[in-house]
Amino acid sequence: MKTLAKPARAARAEAELAEAVRPGQSVELLKALHILTREGRLNQDSRRKLKQVYHLFQFIEKLLRELPAAGAQATLADHGAGKSYLGFIIYDLFFKALGGGRVYGIETRGELVAQSKALAMRLGFERMAFLNLTVAESADSPELPAQIDVVTALHACDTATDDAIAFGLAKQARFMVLVPCCQAEVAACLRETKALALARTPLAELWRHPLHTREIGSQLTNVLRCLLLEAHGYQVTVTELVGWEHSMKNELIIARHTGQRKAAAAQRLRELLSQFGLDALLETRFRLPA
Ligand SMILES: C[S@@+](CC[C@H](N)C(=O)[O-])C[C@H]1O[C@@H](n2cnc3c(N)ncnc32)[C@H](O)[C@@H]1O
Repeated sequence: MKTLAKPARAARAEAELAEAVRPGQSVELLKALHILTREGRLNQDSRRKLKQVYHLFQFIEKLLRELPAAGAQATLADHGAGKSYLGFIIYDLFFKALGGGRVYGIETRGELVAQSKALAMRLGFERMAFLNLTVAESADSPELPAQIDVVTALHACDTATDDAIAFGLAKQARFMVLVPCCQAEVAACLRETKALALARTPLAELWRHPLHTREIGSQLTNVLRCLLLEAHGYQVTVTELVGWEHSMKNELIIARHTGQRKAAAAQRLRELLSQFGLDALLETRFRLPA
């Protein structure tokens, strides 16, 4: 491959940087999130990371703009926030200039919550809050409002995505944006009832081998989540989070509240749980509206 001369390389780096950093965007934030190097440069890894974050932000921004006052007073809760880079990017690119709205990051790791709090304070991002809670606890926390407009959960571990859905339902979220991680609960239930299922139906061949149990469990979990959301009055779209190719977990579920509870989805969910020997989950994980 032909190597560029030094001035040409520098010019290209400048052009890439100008393209990556949007007008008004905090360079300090991008450095703190290690998207930019200390010298304010992009590297191969950070270029990819930024592309991914922007891609997801693009979906979320569109939804925020649909809210009253084009999202100027919107509330957003990000579950399993980790270092909160998603929340920070959303705040920086959307809420900062609006002078309204609020972002909550919910995370169980205390040190990450403390880091995010310190960074938000340093940057003057005063309408960001970070709560050291589990997703499940956050649904009843007095530190959160009774209603939240947008719920996000990006690779929140295991059943944290399910808890985020329960949170969204309890908070009458207008939108939920979910990129699930691996979920072990359904696979564990499939494993428990495997022998019985094999005697009952040839379909159980789909999860006889342990690897398939995990894969089917994961696939089935997301299908059940979508049906649950539809049964509770959400319209659901499932797409691939492009640019996340390096991750196995790139399924993007977007749920939009319409208020039309789909009885057919509720029925399908019941039937699927029954077919897979998972009826117990109807009382715990996949509670249908009364
Ligand atoms: C894979 S990381 C993803 C972090 C971030 N969303 C991202 O995409 O960069 C998952 C995060 O969820 C947190 N987490 C796991 N279970 C949780 C729970 N039940 N409640 C809140 N946070 C949880 C973990 O501590 C971890 O920081």
